[in-house]
Amino acid sequence: MRNILAVFLVTLLSYSTVQSLKTVSPPQGFVGQHNGQFQLNGKPFNFVGANSYWLPLLTSTADVDSTFKQMQSQGVKVLRTWGFNAINGSELVGAQQSGLTYYQVWNSAEWVLNEGPQGLQRLDYVVNTAGKYGIKLIIAFTNNWVGYGGMELYINWIAGAGNTHDVFYTNPQIIASYQRYVTTIVNRYKNSPNVFAWEMMNEARCLGDLSAGPNCVPGTELLTKWYNETSNFIRSLDPFHMITTGGEGHFYWKNKNVGFWFDGVFNSDYNFNGQAGEDFDTELTLPNVDFGTYHLYPQTWYPQLDFPGSNFTVQDWGLLWIQLHADAAKKANKPLILEEFGLTGLQNKTEIYPQWVNLALKTNHAIFAWQFGALGLDEDGGNRPIKYADALINGASPNDGYAIYQNQTVVWNIFA
Ligand SMILES: *[C@@H]1O[C@H](CO)[C@@H](O)[C@H](O)[C@H]1NC(C)=O
Ligand SMILES: *[C@@H]1O[C@H](CO)[C@@H](O)[C@H](O)[C@H]1NC(C)=O
Ligand SMILES: *[C@@H]1O[C@H](CO)[C@@H](O)[C@H](O)[C@H]1NC(C)=O
Ligand SMILES: *[C@@H]1O[C@H](CO)[C@@H](O)[C@H](O)[C@H]1NC(C)=O
Ligand SMILES: *[C@@H]1O[C@H](CO)[C@@H](O)[C@H](O)[C@H]1NC(C)=O
Repeated sequence: MRNILAVFLVTLLSYSTVQSLKTVSPPQGFVGQHNGQFQLNGKPFNFVGANSYWLPLLTSTADVDSTFKQMQSQGVKVLRTWGFNAINGSELVGAQQSGLTYYQVWNSAEWVLNEGPQGLQRLDYVVNTAGKYGIKLIIAFTNNWVGYGGMELYINWIAGAGNTHDVFYTNPQIIASYQRYVTTIVNRYKNSPNVFAWEMMNEARCLGDLSAGPNCVPGTELLTKWYNETSNFIRSLDPFHMITTGGEGHFYWKNKNVGFWFDGVFNSDYNFNGQAGEDFDTELTLPNVDFGTYHLYPQTWYPQLDFPGSNFTVQDWGLLWIQLHADAAKKANKPLILEEFGLTGLQNKTEIYPQWVNLALKTNHAIFAWQFGALGLDEDGGNRPIKYADALINGASPNDGYAIYQNQTVVWNIFA
């Protein structure tokens, strides 16, 4: 009786986890993870990566090749880019005239797909070409922020005005619409070894350009549930590619009042109190979240502490953040990527990046600086406005103050 019951329980268990456990190893050339490490063809896979959201926005395939070549020369093995570019119908004429890349057009509660030469064919070229340069891609499905058509478009067009940002995680029509897009992209590339991993969202939070609602507060774990359901959904479409959050790595340290004093006032810290929405430790335990991601921008996160004479240092805060994530990943036995980090100021870069990079490498994670800078691009004579403040200028890819170009040898070489 006990034995029969045991067998029955085991059967039940394996049924309920059949979707999540990848019992079969990934095909040759696909990266997987095991025991806290990335693996490729049965061997540990360690790497330095890069960020370039603008790569699929280039209009010339020669420029895409040239960028990959420059990345390859720096030793980049994994590139993170956007798998979304969405516009409103009202932007369509302008987009067509300016050569802007767009995959989804919103004119009603159902977006329309653009598979044309200014649409997914551009992403096709990036995905298909990456492997030629020994590079694999992390592809994000949408953005927490409005840039390049993030989740606010789903909210505007499906739920309408007056909603909070977090309805994205709960509204069934929005979830279905997002999943329809995810299905489109995953099915298009799921057989490609050039995909490193799928990323559910860039920097998911309770708030975005819209504010957060009462359902997305510390303790509701709304985002954790969404990550779980979404990663389970992606796994049902694609048994082999890894899946990650794309989150900034905020902790939810329950029962700990982590914060800082400023001007006589105690500030509870959203990097630790769960207010942003993430719960890094719990996310890492989800069966279909294959590895952790986090970002690092202390200059902009703690401007009130960051002034001469303060005992706060950008370098030390960064080292702490790196160590805390390394510890969390070790506990969860999953690999980790510091997938965005940036500093402004040449001296800051040359002094602080090496410290951060050393600790990250020592604690066995992969690093992706924000952001890669390409030179010598020649579409439209090397000068082309893209969107927002993004432009090619004299052949250089967009620079938000963080771009790392090859001609800035002292910085470039830190990552080479
Ligand atoms: C178009 O998109 C932007 C966000 O990218 C939004 O602010 C604007 O309201 C949208 N326009 C329409 C007509 O929905
Ligand atoms: C994740 O999803 C699975 C399958 O639906 C469920 O069994 C599990 O409880 C969920 N975990 C969390 C933390 O929500
Ligand atoms: C920095 O100074 C504040 C008081 O202004 C103090 O509470 C805090 O512990 C100090 N931090 C360090 C690392 O010394
Ligand atoms: C270097 O970093 C410090 C500390 O964050 C900051 O105050 C300063 O403005 C930075 N330098 C430049 C040139 O950005
Ligand atoms: C490197 O290239 C960038 C982009 O074209 C340019 O702004 C910068 O002045 C160049 N730096 C050097 C040292 O040549």
